[in-house]
Amino acid sequence: MDAFDTLKHAFHARLKTSQTDQELAQLKADYLGKKGEVTQLMQVMKDLSESERPVYGQRVNALKKELSEALNAHKKALEKALLEAQLAAEKIDVTLPGDRVQLGARHILSSIVESIEDLFVGLGYQVKEGPEIESDEFNFEKLNLPKHHPARDMQDSFYIDPNTLLRTHTSPVQVRTMLEVGGQKPVKIICPGKVYRRDDDDATHSHQFMQIEGLVVDHHTSMADLKGTLLKMAQTMFGADRTIRLRPSYFPFTEPSVEVDVSCYNCDGAGCSICKHTGYIEILGAGMVHDNVLKMSGYDPKEYQGFAFGIGVERIAMLKYGIEDIRHFYTNDMRFLRMFNQ
Ligand code: PHE
Repeated sequence: MDAFDTLKHAFHARLKTSQTDQELAQLKADYLGKKGEVTQLMQVMKDLSESERPVYGQRVNALKKELSEALNAHKKALEKALLEAQLAAEKIDVTLPGDRVQLGARHILSSIVESIEDLFVGLGYQVKEGPEIESDEFNFEKLNLPKHHPARDMQDSFYIDPNTLLRTHTSPVQVRTMLEVGGQKPVKIICPGKVYRRDDDDATHSHQFMQIEGLVVDHHTSMADLKGTLLKMAQTMFGADRTIRLRPSYFPFTEPSVEVDVSCYNCDGAGCSICKHTGYIEILGAGMVHDNVLKMSGYDPKEYQGFAFGIGVERIAMLKYGIEDIRHFYTNDMRFLRMFNQ
């Protein structure tokens, strides 16, 4: 074996064990680089005779070519193997069962809000929405609840700063609407939306819930209009045979104020466990808009009167469908959500 064969042998031995780009680059430098083994073979040239030189030169060039081709071929083979390994690792088995997209249904609270909206839009009301982060002025003061008024305790609040809170009811939307018309025009609106109160969550309390409030301000608006409207609403929600009864109550923004009961849809007033043997179920609060509230929103109470009511949407759903825990509405259990797939 001459020097060429020894060199070739050594080169191939190293090539075989080279696995990375780095190793290949080093191998290339060691053999084909400026100071590499093959280049060094040229140093003998000066000792050779004129006639030997071309033959020797050709041999060196041929070797150079051979080694560099071997190097490239090895590099390509390595890249191919790497790609194949990657493809194998990322292979997708299209016969595996897929992840099913879980289909829910319209949320029951949305359905109830929509059906109540439909009723009132049919009666000529507008649907109004407003911000959930509200000023103390609109949430309380303009509703006849000045700072430190004891009735503020009825609605424990989440304050963001001394003048800003998460609204405790959708009544501020009514204030905003009355101010919008500058106390000059009648108003007939319902205000659905989320409201927040500082409550410990349990089966019947939630710190966030939904309300629909209604407001009518017009000339000659009376308690009889309120009662007729509420009767219509109760019958739409709980059946055409329902009756309602009004009991005196207190809200700072209405005078007089009432609690409204609907005759029990289960026993028709005879008495059962749902109505706690009273024949009636309390469903909402209402009243005639307080003169102070009208005045603060720019109305002259001698010219305009109004009625208002507020209903809790979860409570209606719980009564209608026998749901015993308010938390079901917010925990997104698909089985619960699908129960109302109409
Ligand atoms: N704003 C009252 C509440 O959230 C509900 C209500 C509205 C009561 C209108 C009477 C009249 O408690």
